[in-house]
Amino acid sequence: MTRRDPPLALLAEVTHRCPLQCPYCSNPVALERAAGELGTDDWCRVIAEAADLGVMQIHFSGGEPLARKDLETMVEQAAKCGLYSNLITSAVLLTEERMNRLRDLGLDHVQISFQDSAAASGDRIGGYRGGHAKKLGAARLVRAAGLPLTLNLVVHRQNLDNLEAMLGMAEALDAHRVEVAHVQYYGWAYENRAALLPNRAQLDRATATVEAARERLKGRVVIDYVVPDYYARRPKACMGGWGRRFLNVSPSGKVLPCHAAETITDLEFESVTARSLAEIWESSPAFERFRGTEWMPEPCRSCDRRELDWGGCRCQAFAITGDAAQTDPACGLSPHHDLMLSLAARESGRGPPDFVYRNYGNIPETPATARPEVLLPDGSE
Ligand code: SF4
Ligand code: FES
Repeated sequence: MTRRDPPLALLAEVTHRCPLQCPYCSNPVALERAAGELGTDDWCRVIAEAADLGVMQIHFSGGEPLARKDLETMVEQAAKCGLYSNLITSAVLLTEERMNRLRDLGLDHVQISFQDSAAASGDRIGGYRGGHAKKLGAARLVRAAGLPLTLNLVVHRQNLDNLEAMLGMAEALDAHRVEVAHVQYYGWAYENRAALLPNRAQLDRATATVEAARERLKGRVVIDYVVPDYYARRPKACMGGWGRRFLNVSPSGKVLPCHAAETITDLEFESVTARSLAEIWESSPAFERFRGTEWMPEPCRSCDRRELDWGGCRCQAFAITGDAAQTDPACGLSPHHDLMLSLAARESGRGPPDFVYRNYGNIPETPATARPEVLLPDGSE
C-alpha cells in the first residue's frame, strides 16, 4: 500500500447532543442519539490511531462536546499522544471547575461560538434562553485559566448588521482570534436558507466592517473572514481538498472526509469499529472518490486552479446539483453557477420564514439536500 501524506487534523465529533438548537448547524439533519455514540475506550483508541497516523491537531466538537462526561479522559489521551487539542464549544455547559480540569489535563485552546452581540437576539438564534450570558461568563473562564480563546461568529442575514458590535465583544473578551464565518449551506443550514442567506448589500457592508476592524485591531486580534459561497466568484478549497488534510469522525465512529459528507447520500463511509483510521484514510472508497484531480469533470479538469481549490466543495455540488462529482456551483466557470446566483437572489429575498431549529423533534423525513434544486430558466420553481 502506498503511504499517503498524513492528515493534519482530526475533527472528533464526539456527540450530536447539544443544549442549543442553532438553525445553521452543519451536523447532518439525521442527528445521532446518545445510544449510538462511541464509548470512551473507542474514542481513546481513535485518538491514539490518529497520532500514529501523523495527525497533529485534534478538535473536539459536536454537537456540544461538554455534553460528554468523559471529555476529560479524551483530552488527557490527546495530550498523552502528543496532539494539540482544541475544544469547539457553545460553552453554556462550561463551569470553572471543568475549565481548570481540562486545562490541567492538557487542553491547549478553546473556541466559543456566539450567535450575536446582544442576549435577546443571541438566545433567539441559538434557541436557548440565557445562553448568551453563559457564553460571556465561559469566555472569561477560558482567559482566567490562561488558555488562548477564539470566538467563532457565525454570521447570516439575521445578525450580520450587528457584526461591528460582535467584533467589539470579541475585543472586550480578550480573544486572540475571531472567525467571522458565514453560514455554509449544508445540513440544518440548508433547511433554513431562506431565513439565513444575506443579500449582496448586507454582505458588502459586512466586508467593509471586517476590513476596518482588521486595521483597528492589528497586532491584537486576528480576524479570519471568508465570503459566503453563494456570492463568491471562485470556490474555496474546501477542507484543503477532499481526503488531503482533514478527517472527521462522527459520534457513531464513521470516518468522513468533511463534517458534512454524510449529506452526500450515494457515498458509504467506513467505521472505526471495523477498520483502523489509517486503513480508512489510505484506501476507503469514500476518501478515494474525490481525491486529487482524476475525478474532475470539465471545466475543472483543464483549469489551472485545479490543484489550488480542488474543484471546491463536494457537499455543495451535491446540494445544488444532486451530483457530488460536479464542479462546485460557487465557481463562476461552473455550468450551474447561474442557478446558484438565482437561488441566492430568491432565498435572500424571501420573508424570512421562522427557523427550523436543530433538534431531534424537527428531523425532516427527506433532507432538503436530498431534493436537488430545480429552477426554471425564468427563475421560478
Ligand atoms: Fe476551481 Fe474547477 Fe472553478 Fe477551476 S473550474 S476555478 S478548478 S472549481
Ligand atoms: Fe464537504 Fe465541502 S463541506 S466537501
